[in-house]
Order: sequence, then C-alpha cells, then structure tokens
Amino acid sequence: MGKQRVLSGIQPTGDLHLGNYLGAIRNWVEMQHHYDSYLFMADLHAITVPHDPAALAESTRRVAATYLACGIEQEYATIFVQSHVPAHSELAWLLMCITPLNWLEDMIQFKEKAIKQGENVGAGLLCYPVLQAADILLYEPDKVPVGEDQKQHLELTRDIAARLNYQFGQDDQPVLRLPEPMIRAEGARVMSLTDGTKKMSKSDPSELSRINLLDSPEQIAHKVKRCKTDSPRGLWFDDGDRPECHNLLTLYMILSGQPKATVAAECKDMGWGQFKPLLTDTLISVLAPIQEKYHAIIDEPGYLDGVLKQGKEKAEAIARPTLEKVKAALGYRVAG
Ligand code: AMP
Ligand code: TRP
Repeated sequence: MGKQRVLSGIQPTGDLHLGNYLGAIRNWVEMQHHYDSYLFMADLHAITVPHDPAALAESTRRVAATYLACGIEQEYATIFVQSHVPAHSELAWLLMCITPLNWLEDMIQFKEKAIKQGENVGAGLLCYPVLQAADILLYEPDKVPVGEDQKQHLELTRDIAARLNYQFGQDDQPVLRLPEPMIRAEGARVMSLTDGTKKMSKSDPSELSRINLLDSPEQIAHKVKRCKTDSPRGLWFDDGDRPECHNLLTLYMILSGQPKATVAAECKDMGWGQFKPLLTDTLISVLAPIQEKYHAIIDEPGYLDGVLKQGKEKAEAIARPTLEKVKAALGYRVAG
C-alpha cells in the first residue's frame, strides 16, 4: 500500500513566527517521512482581508523559502502556490453553489474577522471556508493536519463533500472522498510575549509580541528583554496563575529539547535576569541554521522558482482530474 496523503496550507500574510513553526511546520517536517505531503501557500485566502499587492508575491515566496528552510524537502513533499493551480478557484465556485448560506454565516472565524473589519466585509471573507474546502477536496487527502482553530472549517469541508455526493453522486460511487481532520494536540500552542493568555499571532499589532523566524539575534534579544514577566521569586510551570512564566519555560523546554522535569529543576531558583539570556541564546541557536538555509535558498537564482514550478505540476496532476470528475457529476461536458 502507498503512503497516505496529507494536505495543509498557511496564508502568506506576513512573516512566519515561532508559533507557526512549533505549532505547524515542525510537525509537517516530521510527517513528510510518513505521508505523501501536499503543502501550499494559501495566497488566494490572503486577499480575503485588505492586502498590499506590492507585498503579496514576495510574502508568498518568503513563506515558501521558510518551509524549505525549516526542513520540508521537495523529495517528500509537494510545495506549491495555491493561485498557480487554477482548479482551486474553479472548484470553489462549483462548491459555492451547493453550500447553504447559513452554513457560512455560522463560521466562528468569519464572525470574529467580520467584527474586526467593521463596515468593509468582503464576500470573500464569508466564502473563504468554501475555498478551503476546494483546496482540500481537490487532493482527496486522507488527513488534514491543522490547529484547533480550523476544526470547524474541516467539518464544513466534510459537510460540503457529503452534500455534493448526496446530490450528484451514485449510491455506490461518491464523487468526492471525505477527509479526516488531524487536529494537533494542544501544548505546542505558543503564546504572545506581551500577554501570556493570548496566542502568538501574525495579526497582533505589536512586533514585540512575537519572535519571527527571520528575526536577527539583536531583535530576538530585544524582544526577550522586553517581554512580559511577573514578580514571584523563582520560575516554575504554572499555566493558571503564571501564564507568561509558563509560556517562556515551555518555549525553553521545546527549543532546548529537554524534558519538563529537567527544565523545572534547572530554573526553579532562577530570576528573570538569569533566565532571559538563556532563552535568548537558545532561540538564537535554534533559529540560526533555519535562517542560514533561508538565505541560501533566496540567494540561489532560480532555485525557488524551480521548486514551485515542480510543485505546481505535481499538484495539478492530482487536482485537475478531481475537478473534471466534479464537473462531469454536475453535468458539464468537456469542450470541443
Ligand atoms: P496562521 O498564522 O493563523 O495563518 O496559522 C498558520 C498555522 O500555524 C496554523 O496551522 C496554526 O494553527 C499555526 N499557528 C499559528 N499561530 C500559532 C501559535 N501561536 N501557536 C501554535 N500554532 C500556531
Ligand atoms: N485557513 C487556514 C488557516 O488560516 C489556511 C488554509 C487554507 C488551509 N486552505 C487550507 C489549511 C486547506 C488546511 C487545508 O490556517
């Protein structure tokens, strides 16, 4: 039996941070050896909120180079740009026409983002989960690894596929395959450096709240120096009363690869003045090889374009037949 297929994507809106790495990309790196992996930059999703055209293509390339720098390998994974494969937009339209409006109005992420946008909510923000369903269903993956926040979108994807199968499939022959979600266990949730109760996020207006994977050693030192701390003497894991302390110790634990008990013993008598330089050095040494590889990738003329071209071809070879299958079920006949 061949390997099972997984598919996942990240929106290329801004540079990736430590949360993206520890919560998503690091798992993909591990997973690529066990699954046939399809990993993409969701650049069509990136325009569902106001965006800067001058930055879009560049952000997309930076995210692609970051995937590679973090250890995603072309040999095991197909790395591609969503907008390079037109089947995504095409299937999204077909699915849009069978998706009840009230399913979309119920999406938590839509409600949250719509509140932030105020008056200026585009229809794209509402229809975003249908595009995501198309992204997934085109590749008929066995599993879709995502964070907890995407669970509702995966359920919707299954609902849309089931509805399409019910309306247009034959009993013994569904049109589309329903994917299984693969929701990451909590734990690798990285919190903001300025508020230990909030997730580290690209959309936080404060740069000090996150460590970007491409931050220089000086930026890292500065952000750690300025990060929120508390006053009890000694440091210990406590996600109830000491969210910041808990988050920083957890980061140190994950990045240094030490067991929790070892970190707890090492840090129990430390003050922040002693711990912060330790965390800074650990961050710098974990990020240095990623950054080195990133710059090598970006500096090699044509390399990244080659990876993305090959990714597009491999992705299309899977996506196109699925789209044709759906079109045929809906009653379209191939032109000419
Ligand atoms: P986003 O940056 O929200 O587009 O998320 C891209 C991926 O990174 C998703 O799989 C998220 O679950 C993951 N991710 C984003 N922020 C964090 C965080 N603070 N901790 C852990 N995982 C995260
Ligand atoms: N919506 C996802 C996020 O914000 C990104 C995404 C788009 C995605 N299409 C996808 C994730 C398909 C998994 C599969 O994180």
